[in-house]
Amino acid sequence: MAFWPAKTLLSAVELGLFTRLGGGAMTGAELQDALGLHRRANPDFFDTLVALRFLERDGDGPEARYRNSPETTLFLDQSSPRYMGGFLEMANARLYPFWGDLTEALRTGKPQNETKHGGASVFQELYSKPERLEQFMEAMAGISAGNFQALAAKFDFSRYQTLCDVGGATGLLSILVAKAHAHLRCISADLPAATVIATRKIAAAGVGDRVSAQPLDFFADPLPNADVVTMGMILHDWNLEKKMHLVKAAYDALPPGGAFVVVENIIDDARRQNAFGLMMSLNMLVEFGDAFDFTGADFDSWCRAVGFRRTDVIHLAGPASAGIAYK
Ligand SMILES: C[S@@+](CC[C@H](N)C(=O)[O-])C[C@H]1O[C@@H](n2cnc3c(N)ncnc32)[C@H](O)[C@@H]1O
Repeated sequence: MAFWPAKTLLSAVELGLFTRLGGGAMTGAELQDALGLHRRANPDFFDTLVALRFLERDGDGPEARYRNSPETTLFLDQSSPRYMGGFLEMANARLYPFWGDLTEALRTGKPQNETKHGGASVFQELYSKPERLEQFMEAMAGISAGNFQALAAKFDFSRYQTLCDVGGATGLLSILVAKAHAHLRCISADLPAATVIATRKIAAAGVGDRVSAQPLDFFADPLPNADVVTMGMILHDWNLEKKMHLVKAAYDALPPGGAFVVVENIIDDARRQNAFGLMMSLNMLVEFGDAFDFTGADFDSWCRAVGFRRTDVIHLAGPASAGIAYK
């Protein structure tokens, strides 16, 4: 019944509840009015969030006051610099309804999202509406921020001068790695619509002197040359043939000694432990049909097939790891 707590949290994010409480504690009646809810929501909805430890409550009864927990203050209040609710907003608007058709996806192998009834690809569909594009970009930044911070801390960038983040979306990986490593110059390359947003974010982060955004179609253009080529949640979006195209393109863009780094929810080789990575692979079925997530052993065999010398997997945060291939 995990969809019960999941939807309770997703509705709270959709309603902007944690952002509203960012202004200070409120009674149930005050919160009900502020969010425009029916009286049937109070106190059940708020007390459920207390029991799930997304909210804290001082006192009991109608005068009790609800406030954010330390975690929801940091990660789910939109005024927080560490806000990561973008992914939950997208999950609520898109993935929650689409996963309702998981059984059909398992029976047909077909995507169950906006593309279900034919027409444009996921990214074309998502990018056709500015508000959808922003929502998707924020969703990616939300789910990837912790992984990119861990990569900047754990991977040894000292012997490399340049990095190209392929499919870099908002430019977040390039921004965080450049901030942590003053000697590095970074390019964030993505489709033109994403590049516009990345250019804005890079300037706002104050690293425009060493980080730039560049339009790229990685199935039509060669990748920019760099000492390190990174791909965050890119390979999992595609079938094996397109994965191999991207792995080969990364190999061709690197000098001898260069490194190819993928940031993904890499599934354990025995495929018994990383439940989130396995469910992310089911999510790729729901979103794309033939796309899938993979193990470290899969990554190793694909990289060796195009000429990489050796590979490694380093854990980053939660279910996410970096797969690294050395040329
Ligand atoms: C799942 S998102 C990952 C974003 C980011 N790397 C991260 O880890 O948070 C996939 C990214 O691939 C980009 N993308 C999709 N097709 C592309 C193409 N043909 N050429 C360049 N970028 C593409 C999308 O615009 C999107 O930013």
